[in-house]
Amino acid sequence: MDIKRIMQEMTLEEKAGLCSGKDFWHFKGVERLGIPAIMVCDGPHGLRKQEGEADMMGINESIPAVCFPTASALAASFDRELIRKVGETIGEECRAEGVSVILGPGVNMKRTPLCGRNFEYFTEDPYHASEAAAAFIHGVQSMRVGTSMKHFLANNQEYERMSSDSVVDERTLHEIYLAAFEGAVKNAQPLTVMCSYNKINGIYAAENHEMLTEELRDKWGFQGCVITDWGAGKDRVAGLEAGLDIEMPGGNPMPDEKIVEAVKSGRLREEILDTAVERILKMIDFCTDTPDGKYRFQHERDHALAGAVEKECAVLLKNEEAVLPLSEEKKVAFIGAFASRPRFQGSGSSHIHCKYTTSVLDAAAKNSHITYAQGYHEDGSEDQALFEEAVRQAENADAAVIFAGLPATMESEGVDRTHMAMPEIQNRLIWEIAKVQPDTVVVLYNGSPVEMPWVSEVKGILEMYLGGENVGEAAYDLLFGNANPCGKLAETFPLKLSDNPSHLNYPGYDHTVEYKEGIYVGYRYYDKKEMEVLFPFGHGLSYTDFTYEEIRTDKNVISEEEELTVTVKVKNTGTRSGKEVIQLYVSDPESTVDRPVRELKGYCKVELKPGESTEAEFKLGRRAFAYYNVLLHDWHVETGEFLLQAGSSSRDIRLSKSIQVNSTTEVPVTYTKYSTIKDLLKTAKGAETVAPMLAAMQGANGQTSDAMGEGADEMLRAMMESMPIGTLVNFGALTEEELDQMIQSLND
Ligand code: BGC
Repeated sequence: MDIKRIMQEMTLEEKAGLCSGKDFWHFKGVERLGIPAIMVCDGPHGLRKQEGEADMMGINESIPAVCFPTASALAASFDRELIRKVGETIGEECRAEGVSVILGPGVNMKRTPLCGRNFEYFTEDPYHASEAAAAFIHGVQSMRVGTSMKHFLANNQEYERMSSDSVVDERTLHEIYLAAFEGAVKNAQPLTVMCSYNKINGIYAAENHEMLTEELRDKWGFQGCVITDWGAGKDRVAGLEAGLDIEMPGGNPMPDEKIVEAVKSGRLREEILDTAVERILKMIDFCTDTPDGKYRFQHERDHALAGAVEKECAVLLKNEEAVLPLSEEKKVAFIGAFASRPRFQGSGSSHIHCKYTTSVLDAAAKNSHITYAQGYHEDGSEDQALFEEAVRQAENADAAVIFAGLPATMESEGVDRTHMAMPEIQNRLIWEIAKVQPDTVVVLYNGSPVEMPWVSEVKGILEMYLGGENVGEAAYDLLFGNANPCGKLAETFPLKLSDNPSHLNYPGYDHTVEYKEGIYVGYRYYDKKEMEVLFPFGHGLSYTDFTYEEIRTDKNVISEEEELTVTVKVKNTGTRSGKEVIQLYVSDPESTVDRPVRELKGYCKVELKPGESTEAEFKLGRRAFAYYNVLLHDWHVETGEFLLQAGSSSRDIRLSKSIQVNSTTEVPVTYTKYSTIKDLLKTAKGAETVAPMLAAMQGANGQTSDAMGEGADEMLRAMMESMPIGTLVNFGALTEEELDQMIQSLND
């Protein structure tokens, strides 16, 4: 496409027209200039292409497609190549159906377990979110189909999602919420980014220049288009000025007219419109420069892939006395409505109309030792006969597997959960069965953590998440050992809802939600508070065992500009082939700023046969050691010791190594009379200036210190260090003039 020439030929009206959609699912084109109106569709864990009546709530029909494991499950695979493959396959399905952009992936942080869309989001960790998103984007876009990374930004709850203001401090925004998007933009350049409905620090995302232009484009180098979430547009001209390109859905002529009017009246500079138009044309060009017709939707193939992927995602949370895998020779009671009608996706705009679904009972058809009892109704209603029959069957079998989790009504776009409990009837059923059947296993279908009051009563727990349409085959193969579980939790399961760090500041009031827990989201909080959790971030068991044998680095001292190579050697010391997610955390034990105990900075999934070992290599750049400094408005690395921790989960660190990182950046300080002696001691010049005064004061205090006994010197020094330098005048150590001179010379 000759974009320059096309732009010269376009009228003002045509240019303004490109900045809003044609209808619910199309961007506009310009027919006379041969620019097609391309189609966008929801997903992102499959294709939701609507050919009939359009809606954004998953209500009306869409074409039969394939539902892959949702983001909550995919993230637990910790497998970039696998996620890339899912993206590539969905990209191919889009090509087969003439869809140019798929609306995903969802990258928002899991701030609260209650968010109704957690199943659409990856994790509570920004590094992991950006890696998973980048893998997905690479996969889809390798098929010349665009993605729309969403929902930018700080859209972490569904409660009042269209009106709430997320109030987040600068450091937290950068370390947690922006970082998830930043990594994926830099690594994978999504074709579009979808801005969210909410405000960020008082300004709607769709009009937020700081986010859409300063962060996204100027700092990160985003090349693509920003589109609104459906209905998130506000003032069209202000949006354009802030960096918003396309308002969706289309069909309303008003926004275009407003742009034309603003240009004509001189209120909007035409260059701003031209910049947006150029970006939009580039985007259309990306999606349309390959002929269609080459691909067809392969439902059977992709259904099989959905099952294979889910086997890599499921997380074995508990496996006491190796209750799993089960033997196909034994009589096993399958219990629970989800065994015949699994929950495998959430509700709302991501809802896929599946051509096939496989329940665990379908998958178990070949096994004549399995009995089935429904046990409960999904809606939670009581049915004593169902309940009793299930307990009876469980008691008469060699083992019982209860398929449980959350009903569809609890996990949906637009609505948050109000608690973290599973339906009472399911909890009671698990309890009663565990009393009569020692080998009880619970299989969970849910998109977000649940409380498990029965956790110590059952021997096994297998978390399937919302695992896509072929979840049944995956569950069967994992339960019976045809596959070995290898997923790890990408989020913490707290013991109870009130343990969650956002608890006191969720869902906010008066359309405002203050993120007062700051950077302490997920494991960052639980680790700092040394709290017991139900299952920690990164946790997941296997049917085999892995031994962490060695950690080494290519250097022991680096400057912050240098890259560090870390090698971790792991051996399969069990009896089965299996996969381990080696996690690399970085900890800054002597930081002068408040930092989490450890943060994930690398991971690598390896496959090993029994007795086999391998070395995983990690590259750490300066960002792995940095925190966001609000004085610099930038990332900063402090000089000092850092600990590299390799582990099987955030709470199961197997090997550590200490290295020294030297900073090359000084944080600028301006001293005033309110600066403390401790502030001065942080720089060489300050320490030199204040040293004689400190010595004099300590000498003068000698007598008191004797009277106070041992440890008094240390205490007095700490007391003095906290004194503002202005108080030196009060104590007669300096005159006011001397103090002013001292401050001036320190600041020079
Ligand atoms: C959702 C988006 C979705 C869009 C189009 C909105 O309500 O928040 O995630 O892509 O609708 O259906």
